Amino acid sequence: MYVFWGASDDTAKEVKIFNLSGFIVNRFRQLSSRFYAQNKRLAIKRTVWGASLAILGSAGYYGAYVFIIAQTAVGLITIGTLTFLAGSFRQLRGLMETILLRFNSVSQGAVYLQDFFDFFEIQPTIVTALKPLPFPKPIRQGFTFDNVGFKYANSDKWANRHISFTLHAGEKIALVGENGAGKTTLVKLLARLYDPSEGRILLDGIDLKEYDLNELRIQIGVIFQDFIRYQMSVSQNIAVGNINEQGNTGLITDSSKQSLAHPMIEKLPFKYEQMLGRRFNNGIELSGGEWQKIALARAYMKDAQLLILDEPTAALDARAEYEVFQRFADLTKGKSAVLISHRFSTVRMADRIIVLEKGCLLEMGSHDELLEKDGRYAELFGLQAMGYR
Ligand SMILES: Nc1ncnc2c1ncn2[C@@H]1O[C@H](COP(=O)(O)OP(=O)(O)OP(=O)(O)O)[C@@H](O)[C@H]1O
Ligand SMILES: [Mg+2]
Repeated sequence: MYVFWGASDDTAKEVKIFNLSGFIVNRFRQLSSRFYAQNKRLAIKRTVWGASLAILGSAGYYGAYVFIIAQTAVGLITIGTLTFLAGSFRQLRGLMETILLRFNSVSQGAVYLQDFFDFFEIQPTIVTALKPLPFPKPIRQGFTFDNVGFKYANSDKWANRHISFTLHAGEKIALVGENGAGKTTLVKLLARLYDPSEGRILLDGIDLKEYDLNELRIQIGVIFQDFIRYQMSVSQNIAVGNINEQGNTGLITDSSKQSLAHPMIEKLPFKYEQMLGRRFNNGIELSGGEWQKIALARAYMKDAQLLILDEPTAALDARAEYEVFQRFADLTKGKSAVLISHRFSTVRMADRIIVLEKGCLLEMGSHDELLEKDGRYAELFGLQAMGYR
């Protein structure tokens, strides 16, 4: 890993800026001397055991020779038998050696084999119901959170707690709240990447777990804040939004027009066939905002009924963000959407806004209602507006 840090273009700038090369080299030296010491211990142990067994084996082998020669000398067995036995011993020794060597390599492999089998033993925790319901087309009422709480498996802190609200069919909701307030967790639950630890999520009055998982994945589109920057071509990077359509260049171009990525792509040397990322020698690295437009195009690759965008525009300049959301509103008319953003200029466009705090739902309402209420939303909005004045 430390070698990787030194060798990757993603990390190079931080390593330089923070002057980390000495720290990383030291860390690498410490770790490699630890690995060296551990390997040495193992090698010594193995050699000691190997040598003892070899000595034992040789002693047995030559002992047997001495024994049969002595037997021949006193005339208990004939020279013919002696020759035969000596030949057999030699063969037997060869066989035993092969068996031991095999055993050694099998035992070495078995260490990894156990991991391998453990990996295949892992059962998915999110599964489709035995008799799944077809996903409603169209969604009639919407998604209802009924006192939902969620804890991550490796944590005993509630990431979401006591959350109740309804995302009506066709409604656009924005989630706001401080870092760690539970916004991303809430949309992960909505997209059924996790099931709630307590409470229920209903879709048109029926538990989300009852619906066909494959259909749900098609009907709900999510772009996460930490979306993946694939070291592949532009068109493949967009096609991952709906990999069944990876050959559909018309759809890929349309999607990129909708996310406003198209003009930027047209300027690349190989346009849609341009390799992205620095791993390939003709690859090009994009800016954060350019990557975000590419990622956003993934959302338009499928005709989902619910679109979830988790800070999709954080790296966009103000004009680009404004255009993206104008267009988003047009393109998703009649569809449901959940937007997460720290920019109130974006947030205020939503039909309703939910303010999360420490995993709980603090306030809910339209921009005007929440300003009227003069609570946390109004306070945060005021803070941001002050920054722009
Ligand atoms: N995979 C995980 N495992 C354990 N805890 C997690 C995991 N992901 C998030 N958390 C915790 O859950 C809480 C809520 O995190 P979440 O990512 O939902 O916040 P957020 O509101 O999206 O924050 P941000 O504005 O920084 O994106 C945090 O306390 C976080 O530490
Ligand atoms: Mg988040």
